[in-house]
Amino acid sequence: MATPNGARDPGQPAGKAPALPRPLRSLEVKFTQIFINNEWHKSESGKKFATYNPTTLEKICEVEEGDKADVDKAVAAAHEAFQRGSPWRRLDALSRGYLLHQLADLVERDRALLATLETLDTGKPFLHAYFVDLEGCIRTLRYFAGWADKIQGKTIPTDDNVVCFTRHEPIGVCGAITPWNFPLLMLVWKLAPALCCGNTVVVKPAEQTPLTALHLGSLIKEVGFPPGVVNIVPGFGPTVGAAISSHPQITKIAFTGSTEVGKLVKEAASRSNLKRVTLELGGKNPCIVCADADLDLAVQCAHQGVFFNQGQCCTAASRVFVEEPVYPEFVRRSVEYAQKRPVGDPFDAKTEQGPQIDQKQFDKILQLIESGRKEGAKLECGGSAIEDRGLFIKPTVFSEVTDSMRIAKEEIFGPVQPIMKFKDLEEVIRRANSLEYGLTAAVFTRSLDKALKLAAALDSGTVWINCYNTIYAQAPFGGFKMSGNGRELGEYALSEYTEVKTVTIKLDDKSP
Ligand code: NAI
Ligand code: MG
Repeated sequence: MATPNGARDPGQPAGKAPALPRPLRSLEVKFTQIFINNEWHKSESGKKFATYNPTTLEKICEVEEGDKADVDKAVAAAHEAFQRGSPWRRLDALSRGYLLHQLADLVERDRALLATLETLDTGKPFLHAYFVDLEGCIRTLRYFAGWADKIQGKTIPTDDNVVCFTRHEPIGVCGAITPWNFPLLMLVWKLAPALCCGNTVVVKPAEQTPLTALHLGSLIKEVGFPPGVVNIVPGFGPTVGAAISSHPQITKIAFTGSTEVGKLVKEAASRSNLKRVTLELGGKNPCIVCADADLDLAVQCAHQGVFFNQGQCCTAASRVFVEEPVYPEFVRRSVEYAQKRPVGDPFDAKTEQGPQIDQKQFDKILQLIESGRKEGAKLECGGSAIEDRGLFIKPTVFSEVTDSMRIAKEEIFGPVQPIMKFKDLEEVIRRANSLEYGLTAAVFTRSLDKALKLAAALDSGTVWINCYNTIYAQAPFGGFKMSGNGRELGEYALSEYTEVKTVTIKLDDKSP
């Protein structure tokens, strides 16, 4: 299984297979309101919106629908919680870390519940939610918990009569706008560094998947974060999202989603108060398979890389470049994998692929598949929806794909693997770097020279060599070019959530 943000639980005794975790059978959704000041609120407008289960297309529940007025309330609470002398500002750094560890403890306690909620709301396989999303959340919370009391400034050498040092201070109220593909994980990637640095936060979860964020709100309260430190306003992009991006009292915003909306967020940020912006946007990620690669490994990683999470990953291996001599064999084995991929009920432990998130994404994917056919790619398998089953799409493989086709240029965000051919390294470097995206890249080769040459040459925030989706809380993640600005995770994330202040002290220079 691909493991964004870490591996499966280590330390299982060899030999005996551990019992698989189980989803909660009957789950009453408890938290559906707006979370401000550690209290649950109805929306100012009185409106609610429904969240659906994409597997059954049934309504799960209704959630209070935030708008600008609710964002204003949430920001006022976050602003108040950030004031000098507030309980949050007076908390010592070690205790901030301790709160994050306690939050991780509660996420572990509620792990099966959160994974069940995530599967209901997104349609992703329960075991993926449990082992990938929740594992990533727990590791990220613990990683940043450890940083809270280690965010240190520097002493700068000047001259003997001057003391000059820096303080790394929290920025203030941070906005977080998250997507529906990894709802809780993408939130924790923003929340954990923001809180470890001492900021306060206003969150907008994606409208398709608000439930795990709201449950996390209840855990924030249970742990005892002071009121106003974390506030969660569910709702839509043009209302809640726009109000956050343009709010004059929000001093930093972190966004994960489409490139198109990323531009809107940055524009709103610059028109309002020049708030700092980090963006984690799309990708059309090259996966380069050299003829000397371990072909089994390359086929398997490329398969997981593109089909994982129903193909709904910014990191999706959605441009596979295979060196000519191994191309036919690579295609043959990839088709075998795709045809065997178990698609179905995400609560079934055997399922690897559930439904797409919603009708809009489903239609977009089918249109792109159609464009591949029309533009002359060879459809090897799949290529259509699974009849009578809502939003399910068959794992699809295209060969004989060329760079000018839409499926080779546009983010598909679905279970579609376009496979291209290349002849030499310089050519594949040029083609891999030819798009405006630059999020991740992968290289499969047994040659150290080729691996390091490609790692240096690819315009990409991450390069995986002989692996895929190996993301760690301690390693930075983000994009070159239009795949984003700034970095999440790792020590690098701390600089996105702190201001650097220079303090210069002139000593009395009458004494020697
Ligand atoms: P989106 O960018 O509209 O949604 C992401 C978040 O942005 C959601 O919380 C949404 O409510 C919010 N948003 C929407 N309009 C906004 C606005 N004007 N101001 C502030 N926030 C706003 O993405 P969408 O429509 O769900 O998916 C479209 C495409 O975006 C996908 O097909 C995929 O290609 C890409 N995408 C990329 C993701 C990633 O992980 N980088 C995640 C989700 C989508
Ligand atoms: Mg939903």
